[in-house]
Amino acid sequence: MTTLGTPLSPSATRVLLLGSGELGKEVLIALQRLGVETIAVDRYDNAPGQQVAHHARTITMSDPAQLRALLEAEKPDLVVPEIEAIATPVLEAMEAAGQIRCIPTARAARLTMDREGIRRLAAETLGLPTSPYKFCDSLAELQAAIDGGIGYPCIVKPVMSSSGKGQSKIDGPADVQTAWDHAMAGGRVGPGRVIVEGFIAFDYEITQLTVRALGASGQIETHFCDPIGHVQVSGDYVESWQPHPMSAVALERSRQIAKAVTDNLGGQGLFGVELFVQGDMVWFSEVSPRPHDTGMVTMITQWQNEFELHARAILGLPVDTTLKSPGASAVVYGGVDATGIAFDGVADALRVPNSEIRLFGKPESFVKRRMGVALVHDADVEVARTQAKLAASRVKPRRA
Ligand SMILES: Nc1ncnc2c1ncn2[C@@H]1O[C@H](COP(=O)(O)OP(=O)(O)O)[C@@H](O)[C@H]1O
Ligand SMILES: [Mg+2]
Repeated sequence: MTTLGTPLSPSATRVLLLGSGELGKEVLIALQRLGVETIAVDRYDNAPGQQVAHHARTITMSDPAQLRALLEAEKPDLVVPEIEAIATPVLEAMEAAGQIRCIPTARAARLTMDREGIRRLAAETLGLPTSPYKFCDSLAELQAAIDGGIGYPCIVKPVMSSSGKGQSKIDGPADVQTAWDHAMAGGRVGPGRVIVEGFIAFDYEITQLTVRALGASGQIETHFCDPIGHVQVSGDYVESWQPHPMSAVALERSRQIAKAVTDNLGGQGLFGVELFVQGDMVWFSEVSPRPHDTGMVTMITQWQNEFELHARAILGLPVDTTLKSPGASAVVYGGVDATGIAFDGVADALRVPNSEIRLFGKPESFVKRRMGVALVHDADVEVARTQAKLAASRVKPRRA
């Protein structure tokens, strides 16, 4: 697609986002800037992306009937999944029938919403290095998998979950029952399967943002952003920075892994490939076929941030992944459970040199909900990290 139309007219190029949180909001803004007509879908009203789109729709995206009815009514040119909890069989069926074009592909959306799909593809089909793993359906199977070779320490995660939900580390036999119970309570679809993974004592972890975009010849070309380092607490991202220093060998291996996975998933768009690194060794962890939360740092570090790269790639436009400046991001949490909260201290935060603040506009805050992010650029990435955390700490959410 290289011709763009006028929104709200018969020529409009219409893009529908399934999921309209803070990442979707930025993709929508990037699309708006290109005159694309946007439809923001989420499970609740006034989601961040719905506040900046032409149209807002609220449905249960994991309900096949609701999803199909919406897509048949809207008939968008592109369907862009921005979350994992979607009835992906509907996307696959409608894509196969030529009714929709899904980004990057409906198969990629299905494989990556389930840890089993993507892990088996990466390790068993593509032969990529991953942590040792087993899938288990009961506490007894979990114990047997650990005793049978996974060993301690290990990590248990529901196969259907994200942002660290239901995930825990097992250091010894005494933790197994607790980890199982935690996984059963934290999965997206209630009690179900878990993956148990051997713990990788990595030196650091990165997100390798990878873009599949059309080149001048009309062929797909793969572009890599500079590696993004990040810190996760309980499986949830708290700060990220770019570039993360890496050995030439580790960087090359990271890109080979990212290329192999994204070639297989196919389509057009940006992917966040999560990798663990120890010395020159690299393990594949998981991949998002869409912008990645740790990639929010690119809003201050790249000429084209990850959301603009995604928007361009899906529309068939050229991309440029060049770094503008090193920088860092730090998450602003809600700190309170309340609706319609207020934010004090934004001016103080913005007095941190080279900083920006994004407040996502989520209608409801939770203590550990991501409500905003602080961004700082600096020639020294370590300075940027310290300053981003400082700026984030100056934003004080409170009950209104
Ligand atoms: N096998 C592992 N070894 C060491 N750390 C891990 C392992 N699996 C996950 N982690 C840590 O937990 C984080 C979240 O795990 P991940 O599989 O990415 O779950 P999510 O889908 O919730 O992001 C990772 O970024 C990493 O810090
Ligand atoms: Mg992850």
